[in-house]
Order: sequence, then structure tokens, then C-alpha cells
Amino acid sequence: MNTLPVQPPSGALIGGQWHATSETLEVLRPASGDPIARIAASTADDVDAAVAAARAAFAGELGSWASWSARARSEWLYRFSQAIDADADHLAALECADTGKPISQARGDIAACARYFRFYAGAADKLHGETIPFDPDYAVMTLREPYGVCAQIIPWNYPAQIFGRCVAAALAAGNTCVLKPAEDACLSVLRLAELAVDTGLPDGALNVVPGLGRVAGAALAEHPDIDHLSFTGSPDTGTLVTQAAAVHHVPVTLELGGKSPQLLFADADRQSALDAVVRGIIQNAGQTCSAGSRLLVEASIHDEVVDALARRFEALVCDAGEQDPDCGALINARQRDKVMTLIEAATEDGIQIAARGRLADDAPAGGHFVVPHLLTQVPEGHSVSCEELFGPVLVVQPFADEAEAVRLANATDFGLCAGVWTRDGGRQLRLAKAIRSGQVFVNNYGAAGGIELPFGGVGKSGHGREKGFEGLKSYTRLKTVAIRHG
Ligand code: NAI
Ligand code: MG
Repeated sequence: MNTLPVQPPSGALIGGQWHATSETLEVLRPASGDPIARIAASTADDVDAAVAAARAAFAGELGSWASWSARARSEWLYRFSQAIDADADHLAALECADTGKPISQARGDIAACARYFRFYAGAADKLHGETIPFDPDYAVMTLREPYGVCAQIIPWNYPAQIFGRCVAAALAAGNTCVLKPAEDACLSVLRLAELAVDTGLPDGALNVVPGLGRVAGAALAEHPDIDHLSFTGSPDTGTLVTQAAAVHHVPVTLELGGKSPQLLFADADRQSALDAVVRGIIQNAGQTCSAGSRLLVEASIHDEVVDALARRFEALVCDAGEQDPDCGALINARQRDKVMTLIEAATEDGIQIAARGRLADDAPAGGHFVVPHLLTQVPEGHSVSCEELFGPVLVVQPFADEAEAVRLANATDFGLCAGVWTRDGGRQLRLAKAIRSGQVFVNNYGAAGGIELPFGGVGKSGHGREKGFEGLKSYTRLKTVAIRHG
């Protein structure tokens, strides 16, 4: 076994206790393919026990979560954020080894995870309903109540950040959680859950059931006793979990990725735009739901921009995340093969590889590396310009004018994020309105993660909003109380 700075618990967290499961799964390090840990393979029975523990904690029959005031929840969330900061070196090293991402990005992810808990600590006791003017002999109010048991199925690309995004908001609102992390990367999540217990989170408030999607994930999505489901991952699995949850009329928040465009006009600050364009596609080796994977560029500057980008792409280096390269390995062999197959198919269709990054000379053998690729001459409607690759591949397409820029930006079923680079104020506003997506960034991209900023998709990118105060509201349901006082 490869050396990890700390071994996270290897079981499932159910009702405040770590339970060994009858089967386990091997965890491989993406940078080398070596085994680094074993995790629990939770069964449907384990999931059932976890949901029962979360239900009991919500009902006040287990632990003390149900009796905690919003202020007490806020105080625990803040204490937990400090525990995350104190353990940041271990957590970042686990995230880097487990996902393959560069260590500086892993550190950023852990800092963001802590920040989610601080943000929702500050918000927990500021979430309130309204009073509504009605007939004079009535008093009418709305109450924001927690759903109850929140099921959360999360992916492998940002385990710690997505844990923060959904668990902090759900707990802040007074829910209890059953979280199914991804079999491909969940060591940071297991360590975070261990820290949560050590920080005094009552039994059953958070339960974690690692394991296979088709076993543990499916059992959670179809469980009759969950009250809310939040899923981040692929559109196909999103459809399956939505169908499963529909049987019991469970509301679902879906975050399903994207094919997000950056629109670059000739009048923009080109240096800042190109810095952000490169960052937006190589971050986490392109395995980011909000990756800026398409560059739409005004035709008059297309060739100059492609030349400038080609020089930048050729300087990009892939290596093990611990070396803090530009790009780490992809998560597994399947993901690497998927991306390489799509690139090869594109070149067979006449698409040009304008530039490629390179692999470090001493990169570990057996790593699932794909060097960054810059693709040009991409015909409209080609799958590389409208389907998510989830790799470090940037597709460049020219546009003649604003109308064509909007048409190309919207020429995909996805709609998660977009970047607009122009100094023209009127155009900034027109495009912000015309682009079909959950977020539009003008003269920046991604706003440094933007924990405060509501986030979510349109169309195939999903529905519902997470992050920010909206994310907290989406973990509550509204009750209307009408009192006739005469
Ligand atoms: P996936 O959607 O299958 O996995 C995401 C989560 O769902 C994991 O925890 C997995 O265990 C769980 N899951 C899988 N099958 C399930 C089922 N039948 N019922 C309930 N839960 C289930 O994604 P996968 O297979 O890891 O990656 C495939 C593609 O999905 C990627 O190439 C990428 O394009 C996209 N993806 C998008 C992500 C995003 O951030 N939006 C994250 C991960 C993948
Ligand atoms: Mg899958």
C-alpha cells in the first residue's frame, strides 16, 4: 500500500458508529494505478440502517440533533470549519492522492470545504419565513422547515467541496443526512465524517455509506424513507435516481455537468481572458462540471488567439498531483479511455489538434494521464462541441457577430456556466440575459469558486440551486400558517 498521511476510517458511518461492511472495495491512486486504501462496500441493508439512523436522529429518538436550536447548529458548523482548517494538510494530501488533482488545487478544495461550513454557520440562524398581509381578521405566516432525511449522492471530482456544499447547507437547515460518496474517490469525505463525529456532531445527524453506485447509490435513491435527494454526477445516472425518487414523490436537486462556453470579443482584455480560459479547462484536468470547455472567439481575432493559446498549451505539464503540475491524472482508466477515444474520433472527422501539453519525463508509469488538447476547425454540431468530455480538452469555434455568438453558446443541451469577455457594457447585459445557463460571468470565470453564489443548471445540466443562501433555502420546505383571530 502506498503511504497516506493518515488512514481514514474504512467502514460506513451509521448512527455515530463506524461499521465494517461484509465486502470492501480497493481504492487506486490515479497518478500511478497503485492501491492506497480499502473502503466499505455498503449494501442495501447498510443503507437501510443509515436511513433509519438519520430518521431517528431527526425524530429525536437518537442523539440530540432534533433538539438543537439554529444557534447551536450554527456554533457546531463553525467549530467544524475550524477542525477542517486544523486538519487541512492531511485532508489535502488525501484528496490529492485519491483524485489525482494537483496538491495546490486540493488545498484550495479543503479551504473551500471549511468555508462552506463557515458560510452556513453564519446563515443557519438567519433563515426565516415571512408574514403575509391578508384579511384583517387573519394573521398569516410562512415557516421554513427542514425536509427531514436528506439523501446525498456525490461524485469523485470534488469530494470535499461537494461534501461541504450539500452537508453544511442541509445540517444548517436542521435536516439529517445520509451521504453516498463516489467509489472512485471518497477518502477525504471519510476523514471529514470522522472529524465531524470528533467535533461533537450528535449521533445519526450525518451518516456516510461508501460503496458502488448501482448498489449503495441505487438503494439510497429508491429508499421509501428519504425526504429529499441531491445528486451530482452524470445525466444518465441523474435520470435513474430521479426515476427512483419519483416513486415516493421525493424532491430532487440535480447537478449534471455542462459544456460551458467562454465568449471572447475583440475588444476584451485579452491577457486576463486567456489566463482564465486556460485555467477554466485545465483545473482538475477538465473534470469539473463548470469547466469552460468551449472557447467562442470573434472571427477577426481567431487566428491570433489560437496562436497565443497554442503557446500556452504547449507549456502545460501533466504529472502526479503531489508534484503540483498544471494537470494531474484523470480519475481512472475508463475516464482516460473515454476522453482519448473522443479526441481520436474528432481528428478522424477532420478536427485539428492545434496544440498539446506534455507529460513530465518522470511522471509515474501507470497513471491515467491525458495531456491538455486544443482543438480547432470544429464543425458546428460536432459532438466534441456539444457533449461533455470531462477532460483537459478545449474546443475553439469562431463567431462572426453577437447574434452568432449567442446561437453557438446555446447550441448544447447543457447550461451550467458561461463566461463573457467584452468591455462593451450594453453587450455584457444583452449576453447575460441571452445565454441559457445557471451562471454567467462577465470579465471573469468561476469567481474563485463562489460559495456565496447560487449555482445550478438549465436543461441537461440539472435543476435546483445549491451554494449561497439559495442553497440553504433549497434544503427547507415552506409551510403557510393562516390564523383567524376574529
Ligand atoms: P456517475 O453519475 O455514475 O456517478 C456519480 C455518483 O453516482 C457516484 O457516487 C456513483 O457511485 C453514483 N451512482 C452511479 N450509479 C448509480 C445508480 N444507479 N444509482 C444511484 N447512484 C449511482 O458518474 P461516473 O460514472 O463516475 O462518471 C461518468 C461521467 O459523468 C463522467 O465522464 C462525466 O462526464 C460525468 N460526471 C459529471 C460530474 C459533475 O460534476 N457534474 C461528476 C462526475 C461525473
Ligand atoms: Mg457511472
